[in-house]
Amino acid sequence: MCGIVGYIGPRQAYPVVIKGLKRLEYRGYDSAGIALLNQQQLNVYKKKGKVADLEDSIVATSDLGGHIAIGHTRWATHGEPSDRNSHPHVSKSGQLAMIHNGIIENYAPIKEELLQKGYEFKSDTDTEVLLNFIEEIRVKNECSLEEALRIALKRIVGAYCILLVDVNDPDTILAARKGSPLVIGIGKDEHFLASDASPIIEYTKEVVYVNDYQIAIVKRDELVLKNLGNEKETPFITKLDMELAAIEKGGYDHFMLKEIHEQPATIADCLRGRLQVEHSHLKLAGVENNLDKLLAAKRFIMVACGTSWHAGLVAEYLIEELCRIPVEVEYASEFRYRNPIIEPGDVIIAISQSGETADTLVALENAKEKGAFIFGVVNSVGSSIARLSHAGAYTHSGPEIGVASTKAFTGQLAVLTMMALKIAQAKGTIDEARFDQLLGELAAVPDKVAAILKDSSNIERIAAKYKDASDFLFLGRGYNFPVALEGALKLKEISYIHAEGYPAAEMKHGPIALVDEHLPVVFVATRDRFYEKIVSNVQEIKARKGKVICIASEGDRVIPGMADDTIFVPDADELIGPMISVVPLQLLSYFVGVLKGYDVDKPRNLAKSVTVE
Ligand code: G6P
Repeated sequence: MCGIVGYIGPRQAYPVVIKGLKRLEYRGYDSAGIALLNQQQLNVYKKKGKVADLEDSIVATSDLGGHIAIGHTRWATHGEPSDRNSHPHVSKSGQLAMIHNGIIENYAPIKEELLQKGYEFKSDTDTEVLLNFIEEIRVKNECSLEEALRIALKRIVGAYCILLVDVNDPDTILAARKGSPLVIGIGKDEHFLASDASPIIEYTKEVVYVNDYQIAIVKRDELVLKNLGNEKETPFITKLDMELAAIEKGGYDHFMLKEIHEQPATIADCLRGRLQVEHSHLKLAGVENNLDKLLAAKRFIMVACGTSWHAGLVAEYLIEELCRIPVEVEYASEFRYRNPIIEPGDVIIAISQSGETADTLVALENAKEKGAFIFGVVNSVGSSIARLSHAGAYTHSGPEIGVASTKAFTGQLAVLTMMALKIAQAKGTIDEARFDQLLGELAAVPDKVAAILKDSSNIERIAAKYKDASDFLFLGRGYNFPVALEGALKLKEISYIHAEGYPAAEMKHGPIALVDEHLPVVFVATRDRFYEKIVSNVQEIKARKGKVICIASEGDRVIPGMADDTIFVPDADELIGPMISVVPLQLLSYFVGVLKGYDVDKPRNLAKSVTVE
């Protein structure tokens, strides 16, 4: 949640930071602001709304000079979105400005302390409290700002990535992180700071991922990292493997549409070098190098949130079926708090697009402490979850900017399928013929997805027909049940239509009461072992006058005779099917959202990377 950007160097800082904020808007977009240091003059501009609203609010006469700036795009936690709650915040003396991504959980007693000392607050935020707390420590202890920051950070509880500037030291940005991400790009006599690499990539590929409990003292030509004990730590420079084009829209109206259409390529990228059909071989180093731990595990626990949790559900079916290893699928937010039984030898599979989701991260930290082995299925290279994992496999889906996850989901499914196959092969729970057949099926996925994307006019027509419905039901069985859940989630996120996903058989235990002539019911009814049963479920909905939309396998002649509308997808083995049948559901929600006039890349109240619990 919240995107932060900072710049120090020879360029004019304003355009660098504004452009960076636009790239990070997926992280939050309810207000934005920027603080510029021009010599010893601090200019702060902030506005409720998107970064474009901030730009519009800055008048021609505004002073946008300065070579050092920090900027913020917000997803509100403490205090409603408003101009006054927007970041940056300025300290009581007017000398310090700060931006913050995260939550200070013990801000209330600190605020109380400061109120008693005569501090007044202009906003409702925890950030303003932390900033003034730092200032108070500096004044009281007569110490440097860096020292005051260190002392303050030792007192606070919660998550933060902060950038801090001081009018009396216009050559330094101080930064610190715990739980919220921070990347520092290293240029020639310049540094770029951001929540992820996307604002940095066009200037430099050399970056340092700041670790938890590190403070960065950033000057034009110097980057010093220290721990909270004031000891220097060596910055580890990583080379970014990402191109600028990957984070631009490339001719599409929305990132979401671009990312849906990228899937043939991103799935192929994920399989490349790993899937060797002709040699009947799968190469997945993270699994191969840790087979002892994976095979010894009594159970696997999938830990994830949102769409990634749905990928975990598919993986549960895959791993139990292919590997005969019990699997539990946990919402990270519940898992971290419910005192779960975790023992040394347990394997946790962490699934995350961003690699920064706070609940997932903390759940993993807890499990790691208890001796579990953590395997990360992560998209964002170098992210916190990737670094915390003992081993893992990247999804290689490229940067996902649209808030609703699409290509990351199919990438996760591809990795999890390969994982299941690799473990099953090592364990001897799959025979050679089935292994080879599934490798072939996997290899065919990119072309099958491309076939769906070739012509989406039928899906657009269906979206137009049902876009005014107030509710939707999504039903599926077996491997298609998580797909139904994902279809419902996509629609909710993008079109604000209430949607529920259910196992098709379970529908009789409640949701069927909702069915009338106004309710569109989407069945994921591809040809699999439950096909006959789902056909009966379709009949049950029709008998109650529900409107039926079916995702069906090409060549199916039964379903179209029953459904009001049918979307055909290429036939696939049911284990592989979710990667294919989810695509029309992504498109359906996209078109409904667009037809309803919503900003599908930035749906209200959501953020792509949920770095607060
Ligand atoms: C947010 C996003 C979802 C995503 C979920 C988990 O809710 O809007 O698209 O599925 O977080 O994120 P992660 O990065 O851990 O996969």
